Amino acid sequence: MANITFSSPVMARDVTVYAVAGDRGTILAVAKAHKIPIPFDCQDGECGSCLVKVEHFNPLAKSAVALTEKEKELLKQLGKITKEEIENAEVNDVPPPYRLACQCFVRHEDILVSFEGDKTLP
Ligand code: FES
Repeated sequence: MANITFSSPVMARDVTVYAVAGDRGTILAVAKAHKIPIPFDCQDGECGSCLVKVEHFNPLAKSAVALTEKEKELLKQLGKITKEEIENAEVNDVPPPYRLACQCFVRHEDILVSFEGDKTLP
């Protein structure tokens, strides 16, 4: 099971949600289910609106990092991932700091998800 803490300047305070087996999906799906205002548009790894920073509470907990080609390409275009980080993810299972919330699946570990959000939203 995983505790996911969402943090953003657009939220009055951090919110931690508990993702249970069965409702696990992408970070974006969990955020939407809990009314966390992560911006999104395409939901298909193409627009970059759902960019989030993901910090792992136990940095030593390694598990296969599933970066799709689409996510890698877009993160590269956004300047949010380096060649070394891609290599480290693929070879050593070290998760990169930035992910696309619509492409990143929640797993058995506690994470902190930070995003800028749209300050113009209520
Ligand atoms: Fe477009 Fe995630 S919503 S890349």
